[in-house]
Amino acid sequence: MDGEGYGAWRSITAPDAVSLVFGFPYPESFPNEELVAAARAVFDEEGDVALQYTGGEYAGALADVVAEHARDRGVDCDPGDVVLTNGSTRAIDAVCRTFLEPGDGVFAEAPTFMGALNLFRGYDAAVTGLPTDADGLDVGALETELAARRAAGRPAPKLLYTIPTFQNPTGATMPLERRRRLLELAAEYDFVVLEDDAYGALRYDGDPVPPLKALDEEGRVVRVGTFSKTIAPGVRTGWVVAEGEIREQVERMNPGGTNTFTRGVLARYCREGHFERNVEAFRGEYERRRDRMLDALDAHMPPEATWTDPDGGFFVWVTLPEGLDSAALLPEAAEEGVLYLPGEHFYPDGGDERGERGLRLSFSYAAPDEIDRGIEGLARACQRVLDAR
Ligand SMILES: Cc1ncc(COP(=O)(O)O)c(C=O)c1O
Repeated sequence: MDGEGYGAWRSITAPDAVSLVFGFPYPESFPNEELVAAARAVFDEEGDVALQYTGGEYAGALADVVAEHARDRGVDCDPGDVVLTNGSTRAIDAVCRTFLEPGDGVFAEAPTFMGALNLFRGYDAAVTGLPTDADGLDVGALETELAARRAAGRPAPKLLYTIPTFQNPTGATMPLERRRRLLELAAEYDFVVLEDDAYGALRYDGDPVPPLKALDEEGRVVRVGTFSKTIAPGVRTGWVVAEGEIREQVERMNPGGTNTFTRGVLARYCREGHFERNVEAFRGEYERRRDRMLDALDAHMPPEATWTDPDGGFFVWVTLPEGLDSAALLPEAAEEGVLYLPGEHFYPDGGDERGERGLRLSFSYAAPDEIDRGIEGLARACQRVLDAR
């Protein structure tokens, strides 16, 4: 379920509780009618070829669509730089398979996307969590860590995994200067930057910041993306953008390719202009839901709690008042009618106090009135524990 693995929190069953757990798109966002029309057009125009191993022209056109979208974001991308995958989880996996040997170092934001952490663990990588703040990855701390490793004769990481725009789980976006510095460090210490841009198209406030791949002059950034948040997770279509040798190696690490029929349907859907139109509508709806959640947090949470203020994406990260533990609070929250993901799951090592006091809320799935109820329940659960102390 949303690529985020399994944890003890799954044993909590509260069927009537509001779920602020997963980064699922809200159900009404799914473009069923447009996808049905696109599928019909693919069958009508391409006949049996649409279901052949190779797919038809539409299937072949999806790499062009992905390259166009990348160029719209400032990335110098050719369709030949695109490897399509079954979702971006598979894209990250193919990149791991390309670069990682057991014991290799991976740096990642702490907290970060659980699904990626699970993949890194599966490759027996040595994952180091780097601190983050309201501007995402703390690139100063990265520099200190790299210098300390060099001084101690230890190798730099093979890979640095980052979600620089509307990060999962914090919602933070890395400003341009940090992005530039990160790439300078990647060149100086010779590591690959894996940029995961699952949410980049879903901006509600502020000015766009160029993707890392748009600033990459050395072919050192490998970019992964997905249609899960902008069309639907069920289409299981993501991609890697990389050049030359890296791109070829990633392709080899993605045997069997992807579902050509789905690719054809998505290319037709995008060519009809549905992608842009629908993403525009989703932006409006997600912005309303984000605002609803931030207003409810303001209105109800205990004064010592803090939370992030994302310009886009699906998530708000809450830091509970000192002494509260988000994992221990979950059963109380479930009783009060709300579920969330405790912070410890987003850290390679549990995250100590940051993981304990942190929790992720998703505003993408629950209806606005449920968001209100959920936050009221969370605030009551916090108050119950605070009052009992
Ligand atoms: C940052 C990030 N990357 C990747 C994914 C996985 O996306 P996909 O559905 O394409 O596998 C998610 C989904 O939750 C995500 O939040």
